[in-house]
Amino acid sequence: MKRNPLPQHFRKYNIWTNKAVEINDVHKSYMGSMALKGISLDIDKSSITSITGHSGSGKSTLLRIIQGIEKPDKGEVTIFNQKIDYSSPSIGLKNLINQNVGIGFQSPMLMGNHSVLDNIQLYLKGKGVEPNFPTILDLLFKFGLDNKKKLDQPAASLSGGEQMKVALVRALASKPQLLLLDEPTSAIDSMGTKNVFKTLRDIVDTTGTTIVTVTHDSDLIQDYIDKEVTIESGELL
Ligand SMILES: Nc1ncnc2c1ncn2[C@@H]1O[C@H](COP(=O)(O)OP(=O)(O)O)[C@@H](O)[C@H]1O
Ligand SMILES: [Mg+2]
Repeated sequence: MKRNPLPQHFRKYNIWTNKAVEINDVHKSYMGSMALKGISLDIDKSSITSITGHSGSGKSTLLRIIQGIEKPDKGEVTIFNQKIDYSSPSIGLKNLINQNVGIGFQSPMLMGNHSVLDNIQLYLKGKGVEPNFPTILDLLFKFGLDNKKKLDQPAASLSGGEQMKVALVRALASKPQLLLLDEPTSAIDSMGTKNVFKTLRDIVDTTGTTIVTVTHDSDLIQDYIDKEVTIESGELL
């Protein structure tokens, strides 16, 4: 496992905190059933943290709470030194989340009849980010989507794994400070999964972004992540 990817000279400028996310005693229940039972976790800036755990253990719930779209019953989450305000309508939070946080979902959620490039451009425009073609192409190539013909085809014509990679590029193209990924490699084979995480590692090391990812591929990605945590029945092990 790789630790402290940030060089010392860079770290000293982080005068406020070297934490990207601080999760403090987060509880969440659904209809009387406890999904999260007091999760506390700090996530360093410019790191990759992997969250593992059995299905139903609370991983996606935790990601949604960090994202700000789900309100914890108790506890708080701070992103880049700013406490998330879950109170409705929570406009400040939405701005913070939209501008700085990228999301990758368990399923790619692309618009199937739009081209790959349209999917990425429309997403960026929705976030108020002007699409930058060299950046988009560079990212697509990094993830092995280097067949230019495919980029003008409807997204639905790509394989499941390719669509997941497009969704990753879409999330990364807005250069988020924090990227939350929910099982980004579930439709990708072992070798492809390693390549995706190798690429994510390069991106973290060169851009300083922070990634929190849920994954079931713990063994495959050890070389590329900084920290792994396991949730079992709503509690960190
Ligand atoms: N919106 C919801 N309504 C009711 N129960 C939910 C909801 N979201 C999650 N849960 C429940 O909370 C628990 C944790 O779910 P989840 O966070 O999706 O787990 P994981 O992502 O680890 O598979 C499960 O028991 C699930 O059924
Ligand atoms: Mg889940």
